[in-house]
Amino acid sequence: MNIGFLGSGHITSSIIEGIFKSKLKIKKIYISPRNKLISKKISKRFKKVTIAINNQQVIDRSNWVFLAVTPQVGSKILSKLKFSKNKKIISLISTINLEKLKKYTKNKNISRVIPLPFIGMRKGPIIICPKNNQLKNFFKHLGKVIELKNEKTSKAFWSTSSFMASFYFLLNQTSNWLTSKGIKRKDAEDYTRELFLALSEDAINKNKNSLKQLVLESQTPGGTNAYVLNQLKKKKFYKVQQTVLNSIFKKF
Ligand SMILES: NC(=O)c1ccc[n+]([C@@H]2O[C@H](COP(=O)([O-])OP(=O)(O)OC[C@H]3O[C@@H](n4cnc5c(N)ncnc54)[C@H](OP(=O)(O)O)[C@@H]3O)[C@@H](O)[C@H]2O)c1
Repeated sequence: MNIGFLGSGHITSSIIEGIFKSKLKIKKIYISPRNKLISKKISKRFKKVTIAINNQQVIDRSNWVFLAVTPQVGSKILSKLKFSKNKKIISLISTINLEKLKKYTKNKNISRVIPLPFIGMRKGPIIICPKNNQLKNFFKHLGKVIELKNEKTSKAFWSTSSFMASFYFLLNQTSNWLTSKGIKRKDAEDYTRELFLALSEDAINKNKNSLKQLVLESQTPGGTNAYVLNQLKKKKFYKVQQTVLNSIFKKF
């Protein structure tokens, strides 16, 4: 199978990296010439990747076409391109819904997928909407697939995927606080990264327990974990997070 990407930016680079780390059998990958620097870099790194002369050539040479441009670019270029009926279209675009995508491409064989940059490490959640066995069998090699029946619920996942920078900010704040207590920057960063990695791995390993149970199990009454949790709750730390989630949700 040949696959193609319209838009050679961050998420395209990550998906291609994940594909070549996996056992997926792909004959050729066609990428659009934009971005020039990134497309050159990818095609140099992976022999099976070819830079097409334009977007239409990407489509014509591929069985599956990934839409990996921004919503603004997508709504400008998609209706000018020709997607024959036998093409499968996989849209990664955040804010163009299925109805509009079908209208722009005049093709009904479309799915929306939400990968995250960790797909390059073959890790992280991958949302597929609507359910599709072919796509599930493809993306299961690149991360943890979660299929959705209802497109509207994908907006909620887009919202929670917008917490990456604030998560790293929390790590940075933790590390800064450690250095303010006289700990070397390197030790502070190593400690913080390992602590949050272990917590995340623990949550995955204990996936038979609910997250609520993990909260309970990780504190003893009157202990330090219970103290920190209660103080943060009192100061509305988590309420603010819910409010921000509700406001980002309205943007999708
Ligand atoms: N990054 C993520 O983690 C992530 C995750 C899930 C979904 N997405 C979605 O994937 C899409 C791309 O995101 P991204 O982060 O990869 O953005 P990006 O790095 O900005 O990539 C967009 C690419 O589109 C290219 N482009 C601009 N105009 C074009 C045109 N007319 N024809 C073909 N390509 C064109 C850009 O090239 P120039 O630089 O030359 O303008 C750039 O290489 C977005 O809709 C985003 O919502 C991203």
